[in-house]
Amino acid sequence: MKLKKKIPLIDQHNKSGFWGGKFGGSYIPETLKKPVEDLTNLFEKLRNDKKFLKERDYYFKNYIGSPTSFIKLQNLTNHLKGAQIWAKMVSEANGGAHKIYGATVHCLLAKRAGKKYIVGDTGAGYAGKMLSMAAKKFGLKCKIFMGAKDIKRQRPNVIAMKKNGAEIVPVYSGSQTLVDAVSECMRYWVSNCDTTHMCVGSTVGPNIFVKICGWSTAQISKELKLQVKSEFKKIPKKIKLINCVGGGSSAYGFWSEFIDYNKKQVELIGVEAGGPEGSKLHAAPLSRGAKIGILHGAASYVCQSSEGQINETESISAGLDYPGVSPMHCFLKDTKRAKYVSATDEEALKAYVLIKKFEKINPSLEPSHAFSEAIKIAPKLSKDTIIIVNSCGDAKKDKDILKAKLGK
Ligand SMILES: Cc1ncc(COP(=O)(O)O)c(C=O)c1O
Repeated sequence: MKLKKKIPLIDQHNKSGFWGGKFGGSYIPETLKKPVEDLTNLFEKLRNDKKFLKERDYYFKNYIGSPTSFIKLQNLTNHLKGAQIWAKMVSEANGGAHKIYGATVHCLLAKRAGKKYIVGDTGAGYAGKMLSMAAKKFGLKCKIFMGAKDIKRQRPNVIAMKKNGAEIVPVYSGSQTLVDAVSECMRYWVSNCDTTHMCVGSTVGPNIFVKICGWSTAQISKELKLQVKSEFKKIPKKIKLINCVGGGSSAYGFWSEFIDYNKKQVELIGVEAGGPEGSKLHAAPLSRGAKIGILHGAASYVCQSSEGQINETESISAGLDYPGVSPMHCFLKDTKRAKYVSATDEEALKAYVLIKKFEKINPSLEPSHAFSEAIKIAPKLSKDTIIIVNSCGDAKKDKDILKAKLGK
Protein backbone atom coordinates (compact mmCIF):
# COMPACT_ATOMS: atom_id res chain seq x y z
CA MET A 1 0.00 0.00 0.00
CA LYS A 2 1.24 3.46 -0.95
CA LEU A 3 0.81 6.80 0.79
CA LYS A 4 -2.05 8.73 -0.77
CA LYS A 5 -2.04 12.46 -1.37
CA LYS A 6 -4.71 14.85 -0.08
CA ILE A 7 -6.06 12.32 2.43
CA PRO A 8 -5.03 12.83 6.07
CA LEU A 9 -2.79 9.98 7.19
CA ILE A 10 -5.22 9.20 10.03
CA ASP A 11 -7.72 8.10 7.36
CA GLN A 12 -5.34 6.09 5.19
CA HIS A 13 -6.10 2.74 6.82
CA ASN A 14 -8.05 -0.09 5.20
CA LYS A 15 -11.54 -1.23 6.27
CA SER A 16 -10.07 -3.36 9.04
CA GLY A 17 -8.17 -0.39 10.43
CA PHE A 18 -4.65 -1.24 9.16
CA TRP A 19 -2.23 1.29 7.70
CA GLY A 20 -0.22 -0.18 4.85
CA GLY A 21 -2.34 -3.32 5.26
CA LYS A 22 -0.38 -4.46 8.33
CA PHE A 23 0.00 -1.75 11.01
CA GLY A 24 -2.74 -0.86 13.49
CA GLY A 25 -6.05 -2.68 13.63
CA SER A 26 -8.15 -3.13 16.77
CA TYR A 27 -7.16 -6.19 18.78
CA ILE A 28 -9.78 -5.85 21.50
CA PRO A 29 -11.80 -8.19 23.70
CA GLU A 30 -15.43 -8.86 22.76
CA THR A 31 -16.70 -6.64 25.62
CA LEU A 32 -15.03 -3.59 24.06
CA LYS A 33 -16.46 -4.08 20.58
CA LYS A 34 -19.62 -2.05 21.29
CA PRO A 35 -17.94 0.83 23.24
CA VAL A 36 -15.25 1.11 20.54
CA GLU A 37 -17.90 1.11 17.83
CA ASP A 38 -19.90 3.80 19.70
CA LEU A 39 -16.79 5.95 20.10
CA THR A 40 -15.91 5.51 16.42
CA ASN A 41 -19.40 6.57 15.34
CA LEU A 42 -19.37 9.56 17.69
CA PHE A 43 -15.97 10.75 16.51
CA GLU A 44 -16.77 10.29 12.82
CA LYS A 45 -19.98 12.29 13.29
CA LEU A 46 -18.46 15.09 15.35
CA ARG A 47 -15.38 15.64 13.20
CA ASN A 48 -17.77 16.84 10.47
CA ASP A 49 -20.07 18.76 12.79
CA LYS A 50 -19.60 22.53 12.42
CA LYS A 51 -20.78 23.26 15.95
CA PHE A 52 -18.34 20.75 17.43
CA LEU A 53 -15.46 22.10 15.32
CA LYS A 54 -16.28 25.63 16.46
CA GLU A 55 -16.25 24.46 20.07
CA ARG A 56 -12.91 22.64 19.56
CA ASP A 57 -11.36 25.70 17.92
CA TYR A 58 -12.64 27.93 20.71
CA TYR A 59 -10.88 25.79 23.34
CA PHE A 60 -7.72 25.38 21.24
CA LYS A 61 -7.44 29.17 21.08
CA ASN A 62 -8.82 30.30 24.42
CA TYR A 63 -7.90 27.41 26.69
CA ILE A 64 -4.77 25.91 25.14
CA GLY A 65 -3.41 29.22 23.84
CA SER A 66 -2.96 28.27 20.17
CA PRO A 67 -1.10 29.22 18.10
CA THR A 68 2.15 28.63 19.93
CA SER A 69 5.09 30.63 18.61
CA PHE A 70 7.58 29.82 15.86
CA ILE A 71 11.01 31.27 16.61
CA LYS A 72 14.49 31.37 15.14
CA LEU A 73 17.30 30.03 17.31
CA GLN A 74 19.74 32.62 16.03
CA ASN A 75 22.50 32.13 18.63
CA LEU A 76 22.54 28.38 18.10
CA THR A 77 22.49 28.89 14.32
CA ASN A 78 25.49 31.27 14.58
CA HIS A 79 27.31 28.80 16.81
CA LEU A 80 26.81 25.79 14.53
CA LYS A 81 27.52 27.73 11.31
CA GLY A 82 25.30 25.73 8.98
CA ALA A 83 21.57 25.36 8.47
CA GLN A 84 19.17 27.82 10.11
CA ILE A 85 17.61 26.33 13.25
CA TRP A 86 14.06 27.25 14.19
CA ALA A 87 11.71 25.93 16.87
CA LYS A 88 7.97 25.52 17.18
CA MET A 89 7.37 26.30 20.84
CA VAL A 90 4.59 23.83 21.57
CA SER A 91 5.81 23.86 25.19
CA GLU A 92 3.99 27.23 25.47
CA ALA A 93 0.63 25.43 25.25
CA ASN A 94 -1.37 25.46 28.48
CA GLY A 95 0.19 22.91 30.83
CA GLY A 96 3.53 22.85 28.97
CA ALA A 97 3.23 20.21 26.20
CA HIS A 98 1.27 18.95 23.17
CA LYS A 99 -0.65 16.39 25.23
CA ILE A 100 -3.22 19.10 26.05
CA TYR A 101 -4.65 18.82 22.49
CA GLY A 102 -5.66 15.16 22.80
CA ALA A 103 -6.80 15.62 26.41
CA THR A 104 -9.10 18.52 25.48
CA VAL A 105 -10.64 16.69 22.52
CA HIS A 106 -11.18 13.52 24.59
CA CYS A 107 -12.94 15.53 27.32
CA LEU A 108 -15.19 17.17 24.72
CA LEU A 109 -16.01 13.70 23.31
CA ALA A 110 -16.67 12.29 26.79
CA LYS A 111 -19.11 15.13 27.50
CA ARG A 112 -20.94 14.47 24.22
CA ALA A 113 -21.06 10.75 25.07
CA GLY A 114 -22.64 11.63 28.42
CA LYS A 115 -19.80 10.06 30.40
CA LYS A 116 -18.98 11.41 33.88
CA TYR A 117 -15.63 9.67 34.35
CA ILE A 118 -12.46 9.74 32.29
CA VAL A 119 -9.33 7.59 32.60
CA GLY A 120 -5.94 7.86 30.96
CA ASP A 121 -2.34 6.64 30.97
CA THR A 122 0.82 8.66 31.40
CA GLY A 123 4.59 8.22 31.23
CA ALA A 124 6.28 11.60 31.51
CA GLY A 125 3.23 12.76 33.39
CA TYR A 126 2.23 15.30 30.75
CA ALA A 127 -0.62 13.22 29.29
CA GLY A 128 -1.88 12.72 32.84
CA LYS A 129 -1.40 16.32 33.89
CA MET A 130 -3.24 17.57 30.81
CA LEU A 131 -6.06 15.07 31.18
CA SER A 132 -6.49 16.05 34.83
CA MET A 133 -6.51 19.76 33.87
CA ALA A 134 -9.04 19.31 31.08
CA ALA A 135 -11.19 16.95 33.19
CA LYS A 136 -11.34 19.57 35.93
CA LYS A 137 -12.29 22.25 33.43
CA PHE A 138 -15.05 20.15 31.86
CA GLY A 139 -16.37 18.68 35.13
CA LEU A 140 -15.26 15.05 34.69
CA LYS A 141 -13.90 12.78 37.42
CA CYS A 142 -10.42 11.66 36.42
CA LYS A 143 -8.21 8.63 37.14
CA ILE A 144 -4.65 8.38 35.83
CA PHE A 145 -2.59 5.20 35.55
CA MET A 146 1.15 5.76 35.95
CA GLY A 147 4.11 3.41 36.39
CA ALA A 148 5.68 3.51 39.86
CA LYS A 149 9.12 4.27 38.34
CA ASP A 150 7.66 7.25 36.45
CA ILE A 151 5.86 8.52 39.57
CA LYS A 152 9.27 8.81 41.22
CA ARG A 153 11.09 10.45 38.29
CA GLN A 154 8.39 12.91 37.12
CA ARG A 155 7.36 14.30 40.51
CA PRO A 156 6.34 17.83 39.43
CA ASN A 157 3.69 16.45 37.07
CA VAL A 158 2.44 14.04 39.74
CA ILE A 159 1.95 16.99 42.11
CA ALA A 160 0.09 18.88 39.36
CA MET A 161 -2.27 15.93 38.71
CA LYS A 162 -3.08 15.67 42.42
CA LYS A 163 -3.75 19.43 42.61
CA ASN A 164 -6.19 19.03 39.73
CA GLY A 165 -8.09 16.48 41.79
CA ALA A 166 -7.13 13.37 39.78
CA GLU A 167 -6.73 9.98 41.40
CA ILE A 168 -3.34 8.53 40.49
CA VAL A 169 -3.20 4.75 40.29
CA PRO A 170 0.42 3.56 40.64
CA VAL A 171 1.27 0.59 38.45
CA TYR A 172 3.79 -1.82 39.99
CA SER A 173 3.77 -4.53 37.32
CA GLY A 174 6.48 -5.09 34.67
CA SER A 175 8.96 -2.27 34.21
CA GLN A 176 6.66 0.15 36.10
CA THR A 177 6.72 2.58 33.17
CA LEU A 178 4.38 3.79 30.42
CA VAL A 179 3.88 0.39 28.77
CA ASP A 180 2.49 -1.02 32.02
CA ALA A 181 0.39 2.11 32.69
CA VAL A 182 -1.31 1.80 29.27
CA SER A 183 -2.01 -1.93 29.85
CA GLU A 184 -3.52 -1.27 33.28
CA CYS A 185 -5.61 1.64 32.01
CA MET A 186 -7.02 -0.48 29.17
CA ARG A 187 -7.78 -3.31 31.60
CA TYR A 188 -9.68 -0.87 33.82
CA TRP A 189 -11.67 0.42 30.85
CA VAL A 190 -12.78 -3.08 29.89
CA SER A 191 -14.70 -3.34 33.18
CA ASN A 192 -15.88 0.28 33.37
CA CYS A 193 -16.61 1.33 29.79
CA ASP A 194 -20.34 1.87 30.47
CA THR A 195 -19.68 4.91 32.65
CA THR A 196 -16.15 5.87 31.70
CA HIS A 197 -14.41 7.37 28.69
CA MET A 198 -10.79 6.37 27.99
CA CYS A 199 -8.14 8.73 26.63
CA VAL A 200 -5.02 7.07 25.19
CA GLY A 201 -2.17 9.56 25.61
CA SER A 202 -0.49 8.99 22.24
CA THR A 203 -1.21 7.85 18.68
CA VAL A 204 -1.22 4.21 19.80
CA GLY A 205 -3.83 1.66 20.83
CA PRO A 206 -6.83 0.39 18.84
CA ASN A 207 -7.42 2.24 15.54
CA ILE A 208 -9.93 4.82 16.82
CA PHE A 209 -7.58 6.02 19.57
CA VAL A 210 -4.76 6.54 17.04
CA LYS A 211 -7.15 8.61 14.93
CA ILE A 212 -8.56 10.80 17.71
CA CYS A 213 -5.10 11.60 19.07
CA GLY A 214 -3.65 12.36 15.61
CA TRP A 215 -6.66 14.49 14.67
CA SER A 216 -6.10 16.54 17.84
CA THR A 217 -2.35 17.13 17.57
CA ALA A 218 -2.62 17.93 13.83
CA GLN A 219 -3.41 21.47 15.01
CA ILE A 220 0.37 21.93 15.50
CA SER A 221 1.23 21.55 11.81
CA LYS A 222 -1.79 23.57 10.69
CA GLU A 223 -0.35 26.48 12.66
CA LEU A 224 3.22 25.76 11.58
CA LYS A 225 2.36 25.73 7.88
CA LEU A 226 0.81 29.21 8.16
CA GLN A 227 3.76 30.46 10.21
CA VAL A 228 6.34 29.10 7.74
CA LYS A 229 4.48 30.61 4.78
CA SER A 230 4.22 33.94 6.53
CA GLU A 231 7.93 33.94 7.48
CA PHE A 232 9.39 32.73 4.14
CA LYS A 233 6.52 33.80 1.79
CA LYS A 234 6.28 30.15 0.66
CA ILE A 235 7.33 26.68 1.81
CA PRO A 236 11.14 26.86 1.39
CA LYS A 237 12.99 24.49 -0.95
CA LYS A 238 14.81 22.63 1.81
CA ILE A 239 13.15 22.09 5.18
CA LYS A 240 13.77 19.41 7.77
CA LEU A 241 11.11 18.85 10.42
CA ILE A 242 12.66 17.11 13.42
CA ASN A 243 10.56 15.61 16.20
CA CYS A 244 11.11 13.14 19.01
CA VAL A 245 9.07 9.92 18.79
CA GLY A 246 7.68 7.94 21.71
CA GLY A 247 4.22 6.77 20.73
CA GLY A 248 4.39 9.39 17.98
CA SER A 249 1.63 11.92 18.73
CA SER A 250 3.73 15.08 18.65
CA ALA A 251 5.60 13.94 15.51
CA TYR A 252 2.36 13.14 13.69
CA GLY A 253 0.88 16.47 14.78
CA PHE A 254 4.00 18.34 13.65
CA TRP A 255 4.21 16.62 10.27
CA SER A 256 0.64 15.95 9.15
CA GLU A 257 0.24 19.05 6.93
CA PHE A 258 3.62 18.39 5.30
CA ILE A 259 3.37 14.68 4.45
CA ASP A 260 2.15 15.43 0.89
CA TYR A 261 5.30 17.43 0.06
CA ASN A 262 8.16 15.78 -1.77
CA LYS A 263 10.70 14.48 0.74
CA LYS A 264 13.52 16.33 -1.03
CA GLN A 265 11.71 19.56 -0.14
CA VAL A 266 10.32 18.65 3.30
CA GLU A 267 12.25 15.93 5.08
CA LEU A 268 10.61 14.36 8.13
CA ILE A 269 13.03 13.09 10.77
CA GLY A 270 11.86 11.24 13.87
CA VAL A 271 14.22 10.78 16.81
CA GLU A 272 13.69 7.84 19.14
CA ALA A 273 15.24 7.17 22.53
CA GLY A 274 18.55 5.34 22.12
CA GLY A 275 18.88 4.79 25.90
CA PRO A 276 22.11 5.02 27.88
CA GLU A 277 25.32 4.90 25.84
CA GLY A 278 26.76 1.40 25.65
CA SER A 279 23.58 -0.22 26.95
CA LYS A 280 21.59 -2.77 24.97
CA LEU A 281 18.38 -1.28 26.33
CA HIS A 282 16.66 1.41 24.29
CA ALA A 283 13.17 2.50 23.20
CA ALA A 284 13.80 2.78 19.48
CA PRO A 285 11.69 0.21 17.59
CA LEU A 286 11.79 2.09 14.26
CA SER A 287 15.47 2.93 14.08
CA ARG A 288 16.91 -0.21 15.71
CA GLY A 289 15.20 -2.82 13.54
CA ALA A 290 12.38 -4.14 15.75
CA LYS A 291 9.95 -6.69 14.31
CA ILE A 292 6.18 -6.33 14.01
CA GLY A 293 4.23 -7.37 17.10
CA ILE A 294 0.92 -6.69 18.83
CA LEU A 295 0.91 -4.26 21.71
CA HIS A 296 -2.00 -2.40 23.32
CA GLY A 297 -4.53 -3.52 20.76
CA ALA A 298 -2.57 -2.72 17.60
CA ALA A 299 0.17 -4.09 15.36
CA SER A 300 3.35 -2.02 15.08
CA TYR A 301 7.10 -2.39 15.24
CA VAL A 302 7.70 -3.43 18.85
CA CYS A 303 10.91 -4.00 20.80
CA GLN A 304 10.63 -7.73 21.56
CA SER A 305 12.61 -10.88 22.17
CA SER A 306 12.93 -13.64 19.55
CA GLU A 307 10.01 -15.38 21.33
CA GLY A 308 7.84 -12.27 20.97
CA GLN A 309 8.03 -11.15 24.62
CA ILE A 310 7.94 -7.35 24.96
CA ASN A 311 11.44 -6.15 25.79
CA GLU A 312 12.27 -3.93 28.70
CA THR A 313 13.16 -0.44 27.47
CA GLU A 314 15.28 2.26 29.00
CA SER A 315 15.50 5.99 28.44
CA ILE A 316 16.31 9.04 30.52
CA SER A 317 13.09 10.44 29.09
CA ALA A 318 9.96 8.85 30.55
CA GLY A 319 7.86 10.11 27.61
CA LEU A 320 9.93 8.19 25.05
CA ASP A 321 10.42 5.09 27.21
CA TYR A 322 7.94 2.87 25.33
CA PRO A 323 8.58 -0.35 23.33
CA GLY A 324 5.95 0.26 20.63
CA VAL A 325 5.09 3.12 18.31
CA SER A 326 2.18 4.47 16.31
CA PRO A 327 1.10 2.34 13.31
CA MET A 328 1.13 5.57 11.28
CA HIS A 329 4.87 5.97 11.91
CA CYS A 330 5.44 2.33 10.93
CA PHE A 331 3.70 3.13 7.65
CA LEU A 332 5.74 6.34 7.16
CA LYS A 333 8.90 4.32 7.75
CA ASP A 334 7.96 1.53 5.33
CA THR A 335 6.98 3.99 2.60
CA LYS A 336 10.29 5.83 3.30
CA ARG A 337 8.39 9.12 3.68
CA ALA A 338 9.98 9.66 7.09
CA LYS A 339 13.39 8.76 8.40
CA TYR A 340 13.90 7.55 11.97
CA VAL A 341 17.12 7.79 13.99
CA SER A 342 17.90 7.65 17.69
CA ALA A 343 19.75 9.78 20.24
CA THR A 344 21.26 8.42 23.43
CA ASP A 345 20.54 9.74 26.93
CA GLU A 346 23.92 11.46 26.94
CA GLU A 347 23.35 13.12 23.56
CA ALA A 348 19.95 14.41 24.67
CA LEU A 349 21.45 15.83 27.87
CA LYS A 350 24.27 17.54 25.92
CA ALA A 351 21.71 19.04 23.55
CA TYR A 352 19.65 20.29 26.50
CA VAL A 353 22.71 22.04 27.96
CA LEU A 354 23.60 23.67 24.64
CA ILE A 355 20.05 24.88 23.94
CA LYS A 356 19.75 26.30 27.44
CA LYS A 357 23.13 28.03 27.12
CA PHE A 358 22.51 29.63 23.72
CA GLU A 359 18.77 30.22 23.66
CA LYS A 360 17.58 30.27 27.29
CA ILE A 361 14.71 27.98 26.40
CA ASN A 362 14.00 24.93 28.50
CA PRO A 363 13.07 21.88 26.39
CA SER A 364 12.16 18.73 28.30
CA LEU A 365 14.24 15.59 27.81
CA GLU A 366 11.91 14.33 25.03
CA PRO A 367 12.44 17.25 22.58
CA SER A 368 16.09 17.40 23.69
CA HIS A 369 16.44 14.14 21.70
CA ALA A 370 15.17 15.99 18.61
CA PHE A 371 17.46 18.96 19.28
CA SER A 372 20.38 16.56 19.49
CA GLU A 373 19.77 15.43 15.89
CA ALA A 374 19.41 19.04 14.74
CA ILE A 375 22.73 19.91 16.38
CA LYS A 376 24.37 16.88 14.75
CA ILE A 377 23.28 17.65 11.19
CA ALA A 378 23.12 21.47 11.07
CA PRO A 379 26.87 22.12 10.62
CA LYS A 380 26.93 19.86 7.52
CA LEU A 381 24.07 21.72 5.80
CA SER A 382 23.87 24.91 3.76
CA LYS A 383 22.59 28.20 5.21
CA ASP A 384 19.46 28.05 3.08
CA THR A 385 18.36 24.80 4.74
CA ILE A 386 15.69 25.38 7.37
CA ILE A 387 15.65 22.96 10.30
CA ILE A 388 12.55 23.18 12.48
CA VAL A 389 12.45 21.33 15.79
CA ASN A 390 9.25 20.73 17.71
CA SER A 391 10.04 21.88 21.24
CA CYS A 392 7.03 19.94 22.45
CA GLY A 393 7.55 19.98 26.21
CA ASP A 394 8.94 22.06 29.04
CA ALA A 395 11.68 20.70 31.31
CA LYS A 396 10.11 21.75 34.62
CA LYS A 397 8.99 18.13 35.06
CA ASP A 398 12.62 16.96 34.60
CA LYS A 399 14.15 19.14 37.28
CA ASP A 400 15.06 16.22 39.61
CA ILE A 401 16.72 14.22 36.78
CA LEU A 402 18.58 17.28 35.48
CA LYS A 403 19.82 18.10 38.97
CA ALA A 404 21.05 14.54 39.48
CA LYS A 405 22.77 14.40 36.08
CA LEU A 406 24.09 17.94 35.77
CA GLY A 407 24.48 18.83 39.43
CA LYS A 408 22.42 22.06 39.24
C1 LIG B 1 7.02 16.45 26.16
C2 LIG B 1 6.80 15.14 25.53
N1 LIG B 1 7.27 14.93 24.28
C3 LIG B 1 7.12 13.75 23.67
C4 LIG B 1 6.50 12.70 24.28
C5 LIG B 1 6.40 11.40 23.55
O1 LIG B 1 5.12 11.08 23.19
P1 LIG B 1 4.64 11.22 21.69
O2 LIG B 1 5.63 10.51 20.85
O3 LIG B 1 3.29 10.63 21.70
O4 LIG B 1 4.62 12.68 21.39
C6 LIG B 1 5.97 12.86 25.58
C7 LIG B 1 5.27 11.76 26.25
O5 LIG B 1 4.91 11.81 27.38
C8 LIG B 1 6.12 14.11 26.21
O6 LIG B 1 5.63 14.34 27.43
